[in-house]
Amino acid sequence: MTSHVEIFEVGPRDGLQNEQRPIPTAEKIALVDCLGRAGFRRIEIASFVSPKWVPQMADSAEVLAGIARVPGVRYAALTPNLKGYEGALAARADEVAIFGSASEGFSKANINASIAESLERFRPVAERAQADGMPVRGYVSCVTDCPYDGPVAPDAVARVVAALRDMGCYEVSLGDTIGQGRPETIDAMLQAVLQEMPAGRLAGHYHDTAGRALENVSVSLERGLRVFDAAVGGLGGCPYAPGAKGNVATEAVVAHVEALGYATGLDRAVIAEGAAMARAMRGV
Ligand code: HMG
Ligand code: MG
Repeated sequence: MTSHVEIFEVGPRDGLQNEQRPIPTAEKIALVDCLGRAGFRRIEIASFVSPKWVPQMADSAEVLAGIARVPGVRYAALTPNLKGYEGALAARADEVAIFGSASEGFSKANINASIAESLERFRPVAERAQADGMPVRGYVSCVTDCPYDGPVAPDAVARVVAALRDMGCYEVSLGDTIGQGRPETIDAMLQAVLQEMPAGRLAGHYHDTAGRALENVSVSLERGLRVFDAAVGGLGGCPYAPGAKGNVATEAVVAHVEALGYATGLDRAVIAEGAAMARAMRGV
């Protein structure tokens, strides 16, 4: 098993999407450009969703147009449907993500569709992306708990993972959207999901509401996962997940996995700079 852990930085998207104050585009670009110097291979910076649903992400095309692209870094965008995909393609995103849910309540609240309907909407996005040679990542939200439906069965997560795999997602990221997952529930979920997809194609996306995200990273490492989503400064939250706090902080995951003997290849000083910028942008 490799001793390398990759952190997929999601701060500029997940970290900022819930912020009420309209953050100037230039500030977002400055944050992305700072993070580009930290050694990440992938940074999620944009979201081509309805501006009525998530106003903060309305300038995603301008952000993609304004950044100084670092060679070797892939700049990612969320794309819930074909309209979003076309926006991401035109703005020259390097990869896109389709995002589903393992629970019906969150699916309806977040993307106004049942799970089955959402998968039908994702299919043409995945097909177009494949034809264009665009990598597609998948997300599954509410992998252990849903703010509307309560506890989520591991098999329900595995079913959505399998559907995203069948559409050609190169990796599926497992979202503990409201940060209520515990090592036991994360482990049970992973056991079911690993029947459908190997650990090398899964990522852990843990919010830290209950302060257990690092323990959840640890159990995921034991199950073979080596990619974790995180946000500098631990900022974030989903507008359609009441009570969801920030993603686990990038700097905390780096310290945690490096203490366990894994290499991340990241520059901690640059990450600290990015975390300070992100906090200032959110006024915390
Ligand atoms: P809808 O209202 O059902 O969509 O929303 P619609 O197709 O009926 O269209 C309604 C209006 O939206 C139309 O405009 C469309 O043009 C427009 P109008 O005619 O009213 O002026 N529209 C769009 N505009 C821009 N870009 C688009 C787009 N699509 C339609 N792509 C929709 C369905 C999916 C669009 C909506 O529910 C939406 O945008 N949801 C996004 C919610 C979101 O971004 N949530 C946060 C990200 S997910 C997350 O944070 C979880 C994650 O971090 C993992 C985890 O933690 O679990 C990934
Ligand atoms: Mg999230």
